[in-house]
Amino acid sequence: MVKDIQDKIIRLKQSNDVCILAHSYMSEEICEVADFTGDSYALAVKAMSVSQKTVVMCGVRFMAETVKMLSPDKKVILSHPDAGCPMAEQFDRKYIEQIKDKYKGYAVVAYVNTTADIKAVSDVCVTSSSAVKICRAIPEKNILFIPDINLGRYVAEQIPEKHFEFIAGGCPVHSNIGVEEALKAKAAHPSALLLVHPECNHEVTATADYAGSTSGIMEFAAKSENSEFIIGTENAIVQHLQFKFPDKKFYPLSKNLICADMKLTTLQDVLNCVQGAGGQEIIMDEELRLSAVKCILKMIEYGG
Ligand code: 13P
Ligand code: SF4
Repeated sequence: MVKDIQDKIIRLKQSNDVCILAHSYMSEEICEVADFTGDSYALAVKAMSVSQKTVVMCGVRFMAETVKMLSPDKKVILSHPDAGCPMAEQFDRKYIEQIKDKYKGYAVVAYVNTTADIKAVSDVCVTSSSAVKICRAIPEKNILFIPDINLGRYVAEQIPEKHFEFIAGGCPVHSNIGVEEALKAKAAHPSALLLVHPECNHEVTATADYAGSTSGIMEFAAKSENSEFIIGTENAIVQHLQFKFPDKKFYPLSKNLICADMKLTTLQDVLNCVQGAGGQEIIMDEELRLSAVKCILKMIEYGG
C-alpha cells in the first residue's frame, strides 16, 4: 500500500514538474519520495536552484514561507494547511515592534523559525547552525535575540564580548524536556553520547556532548566513532538515523519529543499535493516578501 502510493507520487511529481522538499522531521516514507531532505534553511536554499516550477514543502508553514521568499516565481505548496510551528507563531509583529522600541539601537536577530511578518521587522535571520557565526559577525554589540530564549542563551554564552537581550519564547516540544530526564537517559545508556538541538533548555544543552541543528546532529552521529547516541530532538531523527546506520544504536532522549505539527503531513497528503489537489499554496504580498527576505539575504551575506 505504502509502496503503491510512493510509486504514484514519484510518477506524478515528474509528469507534473513538482519538486518535493522534506524536512528531516518528516516520516521515513515521506523522506523516501522527496527530492531533497534536510534542515529548514538548507531546503529553502536548495529550492532556489531546482528546475521544477512547483515546490511542495513537507514541513511547517514558516519553512514554506522561507521557500517562497527566496523563490517568488515558483508555486510553493505547504504539505498540510494546518501545519504551523507554535514557536514561529508565538508573537505577532505588533509585540515585536513594542519590544524593539524598548531596545533601540540593538540588532534584532530572528531565528528562522519566525513568520514572514516577524522577519520583516528583524535585521538579520539565523538558523540553529549559523546563529553563533552570524551574531559574532554582525557589527552591533547589542543584540535582541527573538523568539527562542534557549537558542539565544546558548549563542550568547559563546560570544561573551557581546550583550544579549531575549524575549520569553521557545519551542514547546524541546523546552518541555527537563535536565532530570537528560541525566536519567545518560544513566540508562552510559556509553552513549547525548546530541541535542539548542532549542532544548539551557540545563539540558549544558549536559550534552554536542548541540546543533537537525542536520548537525545527523552529521555528528554519522562521523562519530562512538556507536551509541541519545538524540535530543524530534524523534523522527532517531528513526532516520537508525535506518541509515543499523550498526549504531540510537535512543530518544524522551518519548515526548514529538512535534504534533510535523506529524500532520501524511504520505496521502503528499500525493494530494503532487496531484494539485492538496496542501495550501503560499501566497505572499510582494511588499511583505521584500521586507522579510532582507534579513535572510543578510544572513547569507554574513556567511550563514
Ligand atoms: P532545523 O532548522 O535544525 O531543521 O530545526 C527546525 C526546527 O523546527 C527545530 O525544531
Ligand atoms: Fe516548531 Fe518546535 Fe515543532 Fe520545530 S519542533 S517545528 S520549533 S514546534
